[in-house]
Amino acid sequence: MNLLAIESSCDECSAAVLKDGELKSVVISSQLIHSEYGGVVPELASRAHMELIVPVVEESLKKASFSKEEIDSVAVTYGPGLAGSLIVGISFAKAFAASRGIPVVGVNHMEGHLYSAFLEGDKPEFPFIALVVSGGHSMLIHVKEPYSHELLGQTRDDAAGEAFDKVAKLLGLGYPGGPVIDKLAAEGNPKAFNFPRAFMNGESFEFSFSGIKTSVLYLLKELKYDPENRDDKLVRDICASFQAAVIDVLVAKTIAAAGKFRVKSIAVAGGVAANKGLRTALQAAAQTMGAKAVFPRPLYCTDNAAMIGIAAHFKYLKFGMASDLTLKPIPNLPLSFLN
Ligand code: KG4
Ligand code: ZN
Repeated sequence: MNLLAIESSCDECSAAVLKDGELKSVVISSQLIHSEYGGVVPELASRAHMELIVPVVEESLKKASFSKEEIDSVAVTYGPGLAGSLIVGISFAKAFAASRGIPVVGVNHMEGHLYSAFLEGDKPEFPFIALVVSGGHSMLIHVKEPYSHELLGQTRDDAAGEAFDKVAKLLGLGYPGGPVIDKLAAEGNPKAFNFPRAFMNGESFEFSFSGIKTSVLYLLKELKYDPENRDDKLVRDICASFQAAVIDVLVAKTIAAAGKFRVKSIAVAGGVAANKGLRTALQAAAQTMGAKAVFPRPLYCTDNAAMIGIAAHFKYLKFGMASDLTLKPIPNLPLSFLN
């Protein structure tokens, strides 16, 4: 099966081509305009998707050396995400499928992240625990077999990536915050400040990251921090201490879930999975319990259509091809709880 996959849920316009679940090409066009505004502006995102979708799809076909006629199914993200952005990808996918008389399937964006660890290299073995940490979500999932998911817990407030973005904004470091904090944290002292680690007691697999962000805010007020005139050592130490607190929580809960469900594989995905500190800490913790932690390469951690294609492949293997030309965007689409 030659599949064209499309992702347009937020500020990345992306298309990928897969042949029988094997990635042939991926093109990701990031909309840089949002960094001027300190976050994604929905109206600007949907307008940019409208301009980008055709050239991005054409480039993905060209890179894979496929013609439009050789594509025999289309997969597209239908939620969660920004309604105006989702609708551009969905409309394109439906029109492409209808004009060619081929099926179109909707894929949940979070399930795309979840299966991104299967795109290449060392893959997780079923059953496994997935930690999906992005700008909009933080989830721990028990994946029993392909497309059999049990949501163990998620964030009660801010997502992990959102905390990175908000702390970066407080420090005057721009958007998105994750990559810059990751870089500065590597040069700072993670013990310089003691930020709170929420819900570390008991068996809860839920997360909370808003307290840590508020703690950073109070610290900056106390220090009379001026982003225009900043002390580089202080910024590095705050980044390192903040990142250490987030990582401690993510690692502790993921390892606890892996222990409880006796799995041997852990898959980490979503934008925050690109974090170098998290990758090192989780790999080491998994090793000490005889498990392996699998991370997609950073390009496949953040939003991309390759992950939508691989999730569609697993969905197809489990349920067959269920085409839906009435597909609509569902901005708050939950993860499917299938047994
Ligand atoms: O998965 P993604 O591209 O989009 C969503 O579905 O949200 O994730 C974007 C998030 C942003 O919050 C960004 O700051 C964060 O992932 N991120 C990182 C890193 N790279 C991206 N967070 C921590 N460390 C990184 N290296
Ligand atoms: Zn995402």
